[in-house]
Amino acid sequence: MLIIAVWLMLPAYIPSPMAAVFGGGKSIDGGKNFIDGRRILGDGKTYRGLLCGIAFGMMAGLLQMYYLSRQTTMFSVELPSFAGNGANAVVVIFALAFGSLFGDMFMSFFKRRLGLKRGAAMPVVDQLDFVLGAWLFTYIAAPVWFAANFTASIVIVLLVLTPVLHLSTNIIGYFIGVKNEPW
Ligand code: CTP
Ligand code: MG
Repeated sequence: MLIIAVWLMLPAYIPSPMAAVFGGGKSIDGGKNFIDGRRILGDGKTYRGLLCGIAFGMMAGLLQMYYLSRQTTMFSVELPSFAGNGANAVVVIFALAFGSLFGDMFMSFFKRRLGLKRGAAMPVVDQLDFVLGAWLFTYIAAPVWFAANFTASIVIVLLVLTPVLHLSTNIIGYFIGVKNEPW
């Protein structure tokens, strides 16, 4: 169950840490403020982070597709495919990667509306925004595949596992200097 859950989410897990490593430069909101006088998204959301995150997430998914073309199990667990092994799979992988960073951006927008500065912690939201974004986009891209693979038990495993993984990656990111805060 754990292996399948992580396998399905890998293209959504990779983008955030890669955005933290490679992000920087021009911010997506162009430094502009919203009508409330606060930043639209803030300096923590950059084009470079977005593009590098998507690129690495896609790369992970394509490597997984390659793996599936050679063998279908890992530690004797039968692995699911991303809606087959053709164009649909690439669309699903893109939805997972882009959806995760979109969820993260979407919540940054709300964090700014609440007056929270860039990097301010918002427990639960910080840990799950990207999961919900990835699920939403994947559901839109491939509803049948989504329902067949993100079963209730997989969803529960992911809702518990993701915050743990997210916090541990961010603590590592903080100590190696790519994250300003350990959350
Ligand atoms: N990052 C980026 N572009 C993105 C997402 C993230 O450049 N689209 C980089 C930024 O350098 C950011 C870091 O990854 O500081 C960590 O991401 P996150 O924790 O989501 O951003 P915060 O700085 O905490 O900003 P916010 O309060 O808006 O979540
Ligand atoms: Mg943050």
